[in-house]
Amino acid sequence: MRKTVCSFLVVVAMALCASTVKAQQNAKGLKDAYAGYFDVGVAVNMRNIADEQQIALIKREFNSITAENAMKPGSVHPSKDRWNWREADSVADFCRRNGLKLRGHCLMWHNQIGRWMYQDSQGNLLSKEEFYQNMKEHIFTVVNRYKDVVYAWDVVNEAISDGNGPYRNTPMYQIAGDEFIKMAFIWAHEADPNAVLFYNDYNAAIPEKRNRIYNMIKKLKAEGAPIHAVGMQGHYSIYGPRIEDVDVAIQKYSELVSTIHITELDLRANQEMGGDLNLSTEGVQITPEVKARFEKQYVDLFKVLRKHKQVVRCVTFWNLSDKDSWVGERNYPLLFDAKYQPKDAYHLVKNFNPKEE
Ligand code: G3I
Repeated sequence: MRKTVCSFLVVVAMALCASTVKAQQNAKGLKDAYAGYFDVGVAVNMRNIADEQQIALIKREFNSITAENAMKPGSVHPSKDRWNWREADSVADFCRRNGLKLRGHCLMWHNQIGRWMYQDSQGNLLSKEEFYQNMKEHIFTVVNRYKDVVYAWDVVNEAISDGNGPYRNTPMYQIAGDEFIKMAFIWAHEADPNAVLFYNDYNAAIPEKRNRIYNMIKKLKAEGAPIHAVGMQGHYSIYGPRIEDVDVAIQKYSELVSTIHITELDLRANQEMGGDLNLSTEGVQITPEVKARFEKQYVDLFKVLRKHKQVVRCVTFWNLSDKDSWVGERNYPLLFDAKYQPKDAYHLVKNFNPKEE
């Protein structure tokens, strides 16, 4: 009788133990599944960090934060003598409070930047000296304000062209050529010598653009620009890029830098890729075939990222859920659906088998 009771208790204890382990496994987020590989981050808007349920989701799944818009030049520095810190400070405080890493995004970009930075009130381009004075003050002020919490900055964003010529023909490029890119890195480094400094761009795995980015970084580093790292944005699609191209791009950039982040990951269900704001607004029917492609692209992509864990140090999703996504929820881009529920792809990405690598 005593033996039977003992056996029964052992069985109950084992069952309880197994269910606890299972519950623990279920409770673990992406950041835990990828511990030992890379950080897993998310770009947040102001709603995400004000809603208790979304905050809980962020804290469960991610260990790195990027402000989707709040730290951009146009947001914090709308005109020469006006600074607007409210939203950027909220994101920084959220990270301080919760012990989360913060990637700074971004110091110089042709979009979301006040025109005052490079042109006068008549619309004429500023002299190089005036432009540099504005740029230097901007970089020093922002980097100094957040240097206790921001450990990495996207210093220059999207300066390489998509088609003609190596560089994007922005007003800043017209004023100073590629020297402005070098100077941005030099000043960011002076402002915070401990920050990891990134050149960040989209379509960075497409061979032609990859070569242009590679050549620019090589040239500017040789001229003394402290470019420590490459941000491959990763606004991908279920149709591309080819995973082999991602693999080769990581290898190529690793010749120049020791750190790569995937900084803005999402997968559109249509054929478009990249960070351009010129988006198709058409919705996509999420058929079983589209869903299967979506899952395969995510699974294959994370497999190649894990393969490069020595250099890929962080992978950041561009938005928390499909509801927040800049490409719209009808494009089905993220691992959490519009109701903040994990998709099947979430489980596939999270529950990889390290032994199969
Ligand atoms: O600030 C106004 C606000 O005052 C107004 O009420 C609101 C109404 O629509 O619009 C607000 O501005 C919008 C801003 O996001 C903040 O919500 C802009 O219209 C909108 O164009 C802007 O879009 C952002 C875009 O960058 C701007 O270039 C997206 O949210 C953001 O996801 C996107 O992020 C970029 C990365 O920084 C760099 N790489 C490409 C990526 C996608 O374009």
